[in-house]
Amino acid sequence: MIVLGIDTSCDDTSAAILENRKILSNIVSSQIKFHSKYGGVVPEIASRKHIEWIEDVVEKALKSSNLTLEDIDLVAVCKGPGLIGSLLVGVCFAKALSFSAKKQIIGVNHLEGHIQAIFLEEKFPSFPFISLVISGGHTCLYRVDGFGEYKEIGRTRDDAVGEAYDKVAKLLGLGYPGGPVIDMLAKEGNPEKYNLPRPYLHGSFDFSFSGLKTAVKVLIKNLGLKEGEITEEIKRDIAASFQASVIDVLIEKIKGVVKAEKINKVVIAGGVAANSELRRRLMGLKKANIEIYLPSKHLCTDNAAMIAVSGYHRYLNGETSDMFLNAKAYMPL
Ligand code: KG4
Ligand code: ZN
Repeated sequence: MIVLGIDTSCDDTSAAILENRKILSNIVSSQIKFHSKYGGVVPEIASRKHIEWIEDVVEKALKSSNLTLEDIDLVAVCKGPGLIGSLLVGVCFAKALSFSAKKQIIGVNHLEGHIQAIFLEEKFPSFPFISLVISGGHTCLYRVDGFGEYKEIGRTRDDAVGEAYDKVAKLLGLGYPGGPVIDMLAKEGNPEKYNLPRPYLHGSFDFSFSGLKTAVKVLIKNLGLKEGEITEEIKRDIAASFQASVIDVLIEKIKGVVKAEKINKVVIAGGVAANSELRRRLMGLKKANIEIYLPSKHLCTDNAAMIAVSGYHRYLNGETSDMFLNAKAYMPL
């Protein structure tokens, strides 16, 4: 079965072609250079760029898999959550394609896409498993009992992990997106230089990262430095100290949820799962008999192959959408 996946939920225009679970192409056109000077994604710019690029990106995906529209059996499109203007471009484009080329269509939840990215890999877990979704907009823990069977165990009460990375990067004058830059800087920094809080929220599987971000803001203020005066060394040490705090919390939550649910298989998903220090620390959980499943880095950040594989599994379960398919900014899994 050939599936065309489309994701336009935020600032990446992406299209992918799968043959069952095998990736034939996965094109991601990043809009970062149009947003970075504003320190974050500007929704109006994002939707306009999606409109400009979507046709080309889908054509590229077809071309690099040596297929044509005729060969497609199913169009899977991200329907939410995300930026509503951005989502609508993908959903309207997919519906027009499905209607005119007489192809089946299915709407996919973006968070399900992140979790199912693991099924694009050779090694994936059997059900049930735990999934920690850590992205720019979400930080959630789920128990996954089957395709489409998700039970939320915890979520962030304020900022998402990726959002905290992006906000700390902004405080340090590092530009957008902050995650990859902090990841790089932290490699050279001292994680013990600054003692930042660990928001464990004991007794709950919820998260809270806005206080940590505020602690970094206060730290910079107490150092008596304005944005332009922060030296490279200080930036590296703050990056490493902030990251150590985030990772300590994530690891602690994973250990706790594994114990509570008596499930030792954990899938890590979403853009922050691309973080190199987090990936290194997660490998250490083997000692605690916890099996960690990590998608390749390019499948952690937004891409359409993860939408295609989720649509494929839903289709196999007998589900399809129709021309009433709509996009929604807020959409629980
Ligand atoms: O999943 P994603 O691509 O988009 C959303 O659905 O939000 O995640 C984007 C987030 C951004 O906040 C970005 O800073 C963060 O993931 N990110 C990282 C890394 N790469 C991307 N955070 C930490 N380390 C990274 N290497
Ligand atoms: Zn995402």
